[in-house]
Amino acid sequence: MSIRTLDDLLAEGVSGRRVLVRADLNVPLDKQTGAISDDGRIRAVLPTLGALVEAGAKVVVCSHLGRPKGTPDPQFSLSPVAARLGELLGAPVRFATDTVGDSARSTVADLADGQVALLENLRFNAGETSKDEAERGAFADQLAAFGDAYVDDAFGAVHRKHASVYDVPARLPHVAGRLVLREVEVLSKLTSEPERPYVVVLGGSKVSEKLAVIEALLPTVDRLLIGGGMCFTFLKAQGLEVGTSLLEKDMVETCRNLLERSEGKIMLPVDVVVADAFAPDAAHDTVRVDGIPSHRLGLDIGPETVAGFAAALSQAKTIFWNGPMGVFEMAAFAAGTRGIAEAITKADAFSVVGGGDSAAAVRALGLDESSFGHISTGGGASLEYLEGKTLPGIAALEN
Ligand code: 3PG
Ligand code: MG
Repeated sequence: MSIRTLDDLLAEGVSGRRVLVRADLNVPLDKQTGAISDDGRIRAVLPTLGALVEAGAKVVVCSHLGRPKGTPDPQFSLSPVAARLGELLGAPVRFATDTVGDSARSTVADLADGQVALLENLRFNAGETSKDEAERGAFADQLAAFGDAYVDDAFGAVHRKHASVYDVPARLPHVAGRLVLREVEVLSKLTSEPERPYVVVLGGSKVSEKLAVIEALLPTVDRLLIGGGMCFTFLKAQGLEVGTSLLEKDMVETCRNLLERSEGKIMLPVDVVVADAFAPDAAHDTVRVDGIPSHRLGLDIGPETVAGFAAALSQAKTIFWNGPMGVFEMAAFAAGTRGIAEAITKADAFSVVGGGDSAAAVRALGLDESSFGHISTGGGASLEYLEGKTLPGIAALEN
């Protein structure tokens, strides 16, 4: 890989130089309180930031949060993230209340060596996500003016052709940060020669979002275990009734076709937990997949399925897991996700957890993060990597 790394930049010496770091600090916020509910993505960028601080750089961090529409929107402010980042770094982080305006300019100009600043949400500016090269380029020019060098440590955003990810590295000397490097190293193990058996577990709600990765993985994997909301479209494709469960009608034919081509590699649930409603206190029971009542909806995989999936996982030497098995945020429907996560930690395998939701599930369920081989900070990014797509943020670093 012809990518320069943070160590190359550090070797040149960064003391007194302004280093612009693109991070993915897109953390989940509590809907009621606005508090950060999982700070995993902030922690993940600490090794890169810590090294730059130590080396005396003036560190200018930028990130997106959520999907504001190109204009300032207070609910998506990075201000709470600046506070948390300061706590974790053990030194206050200066926060600019705009991204490339007066506040940003003076914050960057006032930085002392070894100090860190965070700019306000990149997506408060239409240029960040614009499809128009000139509009993106103009915004990239403004951002690039804040750095003498650029570090990409935003693995979760490398699949986006956005100004801060794709256009800024064309304007500054650029390197990959520690997180991006580690993510790419780990994921490339899965695409080059995974030790076998290679077992993939996919969950989440929509087949349509996972279709490309299923297509790409089927020839490579030994087993593909499917749970989560998307299993119901597969069950329907097998001719079963799924009640009022999540169903993508226009994907049923596609799923039938996948099952036919899968050479028996795809494993589907044999039992599921069905409820009267999508609610934490809804009445619920475990039923066989051929006995889902017409008025109930499936919200988790059942215990027999967990046992079957766990048996497959116990044989594995390489595991990739993306997407919860059920509505783990509700205690009544968390057993499937917990069971699979525990089975993965017990397997004598190299395991990778991909995706914001599955990574958050690991932490929300109180599981030991260190018992997984790697927990990716990228959801869409890790899937697109496994699909073999060119990731704009990585391609930009290669140039
Ligand atoms: C993510 O959460 O997947 C990344 O931060 C990218 O966010 P996006 O899907 O809004 O581009
Ligand atoms: Mg996303």
